[in-house]
Amino acid sequence: MYLEKLSLTDFRSYAQVDLSFEPGVTVLVGYNGIGKTNLMEAIGYLATLSSHRVSSDAPLLRFGTERALIRAKLVRGEQSTVLELEINGSRANRGRINRSNPVRARDILGICQTVLFAPEDLALVKGDPSNRRRFLDELLVSLMPRHSATRTDYDRVLKQRNALLKSGRTGKFTAGHEATLDVWDQHMAKAGAELLHARLELVERIRPHLREAYAQLTDGSKEADAIYRSTLQDMMDDDGASPGFAAEPAAVERVEDLRELSVEDLTERYVQAFAASRRKELERGVSLVGPHRDDVELILGEAPAKGYASHGETWSMCLSLRLASYYVMLDDARTGGSAPILILDDVFAELDVQRRRKLAAIVSGAEQVLVTAAVDADIPEELAGRRVKVVPGGIDESESR
Ligand SMILES: Nc1ncnc2c1ncn2[C@@H]1O[C@H](COP(=O)(O)OP(=O)(O)O)[C@@H](O)[C@H]1O
Ligand SMILES: [Mg+2]
Repeated sequence: MYLEKLSLTDFRSYAQVDLSFEPGVTVLVGYNGIGKTNLMEAIGYLATLSSHRVSSDAPLLRFGTERALIRAKLVRGEQSTVLELEINGSRANRGRINRSNPVRARDILGICQTVLFAPEDLALVKGDPSNRRRFLDELLVSLMPRHSATRTDYDRVLKQRNALLKSGRTGKFTAGHEATLDVWDQHMAKAGAELLHARLELVERIRPHLREAYAQLTDGSKEADAIYRSTLQDMMDDDGASPGFAAEPAAVERVEDLRELSVEDLTERYVQAFAASRRKELERGVSLVGPHRDDVELILGEAPAKGYASHGETWSMCLSLRLASYYVMLDDARTGGSAPILILDDVFAELDVQRRRKLAAIVSGAEQVLVTAAVDADIPEELAGRRVKVVPGGIDESESR
């Protein structure tokens, strides 16, 4: 697919801007602070309903305003879709599809598909597990928008369960609480199992592409891989010897591989795991087992990337993860082979000449690639395409070439 038009109202630094784009490669050049990332962030937000820079919506509203509007015209084959998203400071965000009546924001998920590369991606390797969970879940929701509800359900139950566990810690825990906790365990097991099952499947889809992308970006001397690390698996592997759950019976039947289990089986395992860890959880006042504590271990050659990879290798790993999600989306039956929009925000400046060239060669054939840079010189020759200049308040068409 490609983005044909983008209009922003009171989004970040833009009071009002109306831009046109073309398929193929477009490089947006403009000095730092001019508003390039703001544009890319808006497109990314339409796809994921979240920003790659901030975790709350408030900074997205132009300073002093209460409502931002992102409007985009997207073209996929013969079909074009007008998407609108209203980001509200004080009430729920709303969307509109082809000028329909307003819908919940999450109903527009899956329509605009992007893969966004940004310097923040370094956190995929170097950061804490929440970065990698978010990477997985965003891709998951892009591919299967119904999982947006799975995530919301899980987060809600987790919050309520944690509140209950906390009250247990303060000693106000009664038999009534215990019964309520049993109910939350069931809910959390069900939502957690669905999320876990979907993530495990997704990691299997990512792995071959990750390996291939990493080989393409580097000299191929190391292999890249990703392994899903589940707190449920840890519980099942636990033979009672670990200090964490030492006093608990080995209540969860061990299996070699979670990937062999159905959602129903996983639900059952979670219920068992919650029961086995209940005392510990009551002591600590938080939920210790579940997809909210899981991680994806990224591996380079023999060693984990985190803590071992060089700066260059870390970048190659991050780029490979993004490229892998691009290929997974491309392969997905639901997209019918329609490519997501590739966004490379200020990424070339971070890379050495070899990686720049290789990345340019890989992405240049995509249906639409939007690239930003502070200076033209950071963009490798291999990335032939339109160059436009970003100026205060928008794009200077007269300077395009
Ligand atoms: N909510 C906001 N309201 C007004 N201006 C903002 C807001 N958020 C960011 N800005 C401004 O946007 C500019 C940064 O834009 P950005 O897109 O990050 O620049 P770059 O071209 O370097 O990518 C800064 O000048 C910042 O002050
Ligand atoms: Mg920027």
